[in-house]
Amino acid sequence: MDFDKVIQKRQSTRAFSSKKASWKDMVHAVEAVRQGPWADNTCSCKCLIIEESNTIAKLAQLADQSWIADATGMIIVCNKEGMLEKMHGERGRIYARQQAGAAINTILLKLTDLGLQSCWVGSYDDEKIRKLLDVPGDITIEALIPVGYATTGYKNKQKPRKKPLETMLNWEKWGESSRPALWREDKRRPQPEGFGY
Ligand SMILES: Cc1cc2nc3c(=O)[nH]c(=O)nc-3n(C[C@H](O)[C@H](O)[C@H](O)COP(=O)(O)O)c2cc1C
Repeated sequence: MDFDKVIQKRQSTRAFSSKKASWKDMVHAVEAVRQGPWADNTCSCKCLIIEESNTIAKLAQLADQSWIADATGMIIVCNKEGMLEKMHGERGRIYARQQAGAAINTILLKLTDLGLQSCWVGSYDDEKIRKLLDVPGDITIEALIPVGYATTGYKNKQKPRKKPLETMLNWEKWGESSRPALWREDKRRPQPEGFGY
């Protein structure tokens, strides 16, 4: 799928049909993560793939989000933060958290590319999930990603309107919301289309 289309199509989906998500597609999504950038090329993230519907139902309870039970697959992103902490101290722990966020987003985008729907779920009872799935104490559970096919006609009503691009951009210095005139007038620099600059 065209990359811009993948970005536009990705949305948090919270209603799944009974059509089963393929474990192979979930593995493809994890493979996309593996190809990503890693501090020291050290992949601190591990993924747990869940196919058992009973386990997914229990995870829905432990997240207190009943819609999760209808997902036909689940990818749980885990992280061994200590790996990078040994090499880089506190900074390594920051790297590890950053890597987990990048991994989660990569999974969401790859699943979209494969025609699947999903959602980033960050609210759950970590310790109870750890116990249920035998996750060791030195592993952080970073996110649950319920996977499946959206119900027919599903539209994400909760999807908030995204704030305008300008609210995210600073130019040259923090707080500078306009692109410097010098640049605007420099015809040698290629100008991006469509952003009003
Ligand atoms: C760190 C994080 C935690 C989230 N936790 C949950 C969650 O527990 N349950 C849920 O339904 N959505 C959760 N979301 C999804 C957001 O609600 C969603 O991304 C946001 O409303 C924007 O909608 P969109 O993903 O459709 O663009 C989470 C997203 C992030 C980034």
